[in-house]
Amino acid sequence: MRSPEGIRASRAVLAVLLMGVTAAASRPQMRRPEGLPQSAHAEVDGLALTPPMGWYPWNMFGEEPQNETLIKEIADALVASGMKDAGYAYVGPDEGVCFSRGEDGKLTTNLDRYPSGLRGLGDYVHRKGLKYALYTDAGAKTCSGAMPGTKDSEFEDMKAFADWRADYIKIDWCNSQGQDIVQTYALLGKAQRAAGRPVVHSLCSWGEGYPWIWAGAIGHMWRTTADICGPGKADWARALRIAFANEQLAGFAGPGRWNDPDMMIVGMPGLSEAQNRSLFSLWCMMASPLMAGNDLRDMSRSTVDILTNLEAIAVDQDPLGAQGRVVWNDGNVSLWAGKPLFDGSQAVLVLYQGKYRADKKIYWEELGLQASDELYVRNLWTHETTGPHAGSVSVAVGPDDVAFLRLSKKSDLPIPPVLVADTYLVTLRSKVARPETLTGKVTVTNKGSSDLPPWRVDPESLPPWLEVAVAGSGKAQTFVNTVSTAGLKKGAYHALVRADNVEPISGRPMSALYYDVDLEVVRNVRR
Ligand code: GLA
Repeated sequence: MRSPEGIRASRAVLAVLLMGVTAAASRPQMRRPEGLPQSAHAEVDGLALTPPMGWYPWNMFGEEPQNETLIKEIADALVASGMKDAGYAYVGPDEGVCFSRGEDGKLTTNLDRYPSGLRGLGDYVHRKGLKYALYTDAGAKTCSGAMPGTKDSEFEDMKAFADWRADYIKIDWCNSQGQDIVQTYALLGKAQRAAGRPVVHSLCSWGEGYPWIWAGAIGHMWRTTADICGPGKADWARALRIAFANEQLAGFAGPGRWNDPDMMIVGMPGLSEAQNRSLFSLWCMMASPLMAGNDLRDMSRSTVDILTNLEAIAVDQDPLGAQGRVVWNDGNVSLWAGKPLFDGSQAVLVLYQGKYRADKKIYWEELGLQASDELYVRNLWTHETTGPHAGSVSVAVGPDDVAFLRLSKKSDLPIPPVLVADTYLVTLRSKVARPETLTGKVTVTNKGSSDLPPWRVDPESLPPWLEVAVAGSGKAQTFVNTVSTAGLKKGAYHALVRADNVEPISGRPMSALYYDVDLEVVRNVRR
């Protein structure tokens, strides 16, 4: 048998080879194949209609220090740092010996590392108004070999993940020799639907099998390249190679189906402030999932400012979901465009890889605009608007830095919705035999510019013991959950509430919002 280190080493070699293959092989496949229902899956569950945002442990921590304390501290830090208020929500363990398979074939939590159980940790995350992310593998074992993969237990395992209340499942592709990649991930998608809890399905085959062609019909995002770094070590050159490989797949991305160039390395040891800013801008420009990978408990002011820059995040989270691409690249300077935004403006990025600070001129015609257009230019890092400019604009850029801009005929630039919930878990308890009415609330605030229309909950989707009314309007709306216990038997009851909305400027559907309601009935209740 090969040691986990051996497996990891050969996987690393394979991953590097794949990166080359991905970049080379993607070129002839730039056009999306006809007739493939690329967005069919997200259209059903309404999830990830803008790129998921959150945090995952792998880049910084690898496997070893992952445990309940770390994940809880990171969840706390997501709130305390202001990242939750900027839209980051998904958090949970990556590969870190969270569970094993028992004699009966069922997954059980590793209680040494996760004493509250994986469900208990999920409840902690949900109570904070965050979303729960878990990790597994489509093969026989996870990459380290230390955890069981889902092969031949797909339905049981996806049920276990639903019972743990996962909202997001990253599914790796290690130890999958002999498996058909499309059939395997499609089966896992089917198993998730059978488990009855909609989840963001994050496919992680590092570009193997060209997931951009088929994975939109199965899940919501797919890794396009090898890992961005080894645990704890940021690698700028490698990150840039990944960005340029991922960029070529722009035509495949859109609402509910995202190219994933991996978790970010912003704020990790080894990157300069300019590199952090550039990496974040590139990920936003490519409408990439924004999964932070640094230690959120120990961040410099500059890292926090970069990760929470709402004007940059607005480009990533734009409701149109276009992925920007390279217009030209002379090896030193690259111009990125092709990202129309929901209010008629557009994002433009200049990445500078030269040695000395320089001025770069951007011509409207390079962006597909008329030379005569008069445009305001918003610098998304200095937060200054200049103009209107006719025909071109000049920007100063330093080494490894970017100019990240929003161009518009108007000087007013709205921010798309950024939703922040006070909780995603309502817990109610009835202790008496006479019927009673209990209420629990969930308040969702929009940190974006627009007042949202009222959220809609389909009453038909709720169990008979629960009613949901939406109160408030505009920036903050409250879901009032009213439970009537009349006639309920002693026991535990659960509902997953789905709410839908539309972004008012673009008219595009927003990602569906889901939260859990738990009701415990301690005694049988009379009618
Ligand atoms: C693969 C993935 C990484 C991480 C590790 C865990 O390499 O691409 O993101 O999940 O496995 O072993």
